[in-house]
Amino acid sequence: MSRAIVTTATAPLRGRLALPGDKSISHRRALMSLFVKDEVRLDNFCTGEDCLATLSCLEQLGKRVSREGTNRVVISGELTAEAAELDCGNSGTTARLLMGILAGQNGEWILRGDTSLSRRPMERVAEPLQLMGAEIELTDGHLPAKIRGASLQGISYNSLVASAQVKTALLLAAIRAKGTTRYREPKPTRDHTERILGIRADSRAWIELDPNSTKLNSTILSARVPSDPSSAAFWVVAAIMVPDSELRFPSVLINPLRIVYMASLRNNGADVSLSITRTRHAEEITKVQVRSSVVRPVTVNRDISAAVIDEIPVLAALATGIEGTSTFQDLQELRVKESDRLSAITENLRAMGGNIEEQEGGFRVVGPRKLHGAKIVTEGDHRIAMAFAIAGLVAEGETVIDHAECVSVSYPEFWDHFRTLAPNSIRIQE
Ligand code: S3P
Repeated sequence: MSRAIVTTATAPLRGRLALPGDKSISHRRALMSLFVKDEVRLDNFCTGEDCLATLSCLEQLGKRVSREGTNRVVISGELTAEAAELDCGNSGTTARLLMGILAGQNGEWILRGDTSLSRRPMERVAEPLQLMGAEIELTDGHLPAKIRGASLQGISYNSLVASAQVKTALLLAAIRAKGTTRYREPKPTRDHTERILGIRADSRAWIELDPNSTKLNSTILSARVPSDPSSAAFWVVAAIMVPDSELRFPSVLINPLRIVYMASLRNNGADVSLSITRTRHAEEITKVQVRSSVVRPVTVNRDISAAVIDEIPVLAALATGIEGTSTFQDLQELRVKESDRLSAITENLRAMGGNIEEQEGGFRVVGPRKLHGAKIVTEGDHRIAMAFAIAGLVAEGETVIDHAECVSVSYPEFWDHFRTLAPNSIRIQE
């Protein structure tokens, strides 16, 4: 059932918060278990609905999946289902990565998604896979997709879209292809797949996968998933904005391609500090501490747009409190996320009194502006719901978040964490 949550201004936020496992890494390690039959054990697995959709597709494909406690997942067995209809729910990562994996396996499958996922572009994945020999039929460029396993050939692909999902789909297909696959991206995107597979880009930035020298087994795949820096972003911004706050987060993933938002906030004066870094399961992690601070305007341009794509909604909320003009450019990709995030950000921020101007590929925010509560239209988009709940922490009056349950797509613990940190600033609308 759909319900609304009301948030109001808060007292200082203080304390330590253990955040859920990283969504991108959870998807990748679980989906890559389709290439091995021994047991893969994943701790601190992200239990957001997107990652649960991945687990349920694995089960549909014949794998055994068991949950131990809340966040441990054990996956075993083989891909046995040579025909199945797989429901990817709201999850673009599940759909696109599965396309790459299944393209080179024996069988015939249908991939489906919910209304939002069925609107998102799939040619960007199907086209390069078809060049490798994949047999994929889309429905007008979208899901449902029919995939018939085929024998694949390695290709060199110079991608025009900066998408880690497209890159990963191709690299995963390459594991079952004959010959080497080379992939080049227009700008760097998250590299978790490359790290798991132990591959690096060469000096001209071609990422190369030779199936004969690619090692993948259950030991490589089993891991403790580090905390998700994109989920941390909501609280990092909240702590910066709410005076006298101080928050600490243990074991956060600090992969350089994922914490560009933190680095850029720090450059602009934010009090964000990282402790000593440890490397675990091919990724760096550390404790992150944030204190309230005065920051200079946010600038998102071509150099960093792909790396901060998931943090834009909450950075937009932050920008309203900053003195000066924040510019957000080269963000056309936001139009094809779970919702058209450029218009969702503009309309909702304007409803709260923000001075924001939408542009074709971005927007501009002039601050500071004292926000006031409003009715937020989330369109069921998890990152819009969470970003505006955070905006509500510094707004005058009540901010009403519709479809509040949608946060479960990536961060099911969000409202519990909200209640822990700001107990007097949240209530369920009757
Ligand atoms: C993801 C890649 C990004 C990101 C999404 C997760 C991934 O999407 O927005 O939340 O895990 O590879 P694109 O690949 O479409 O840019």
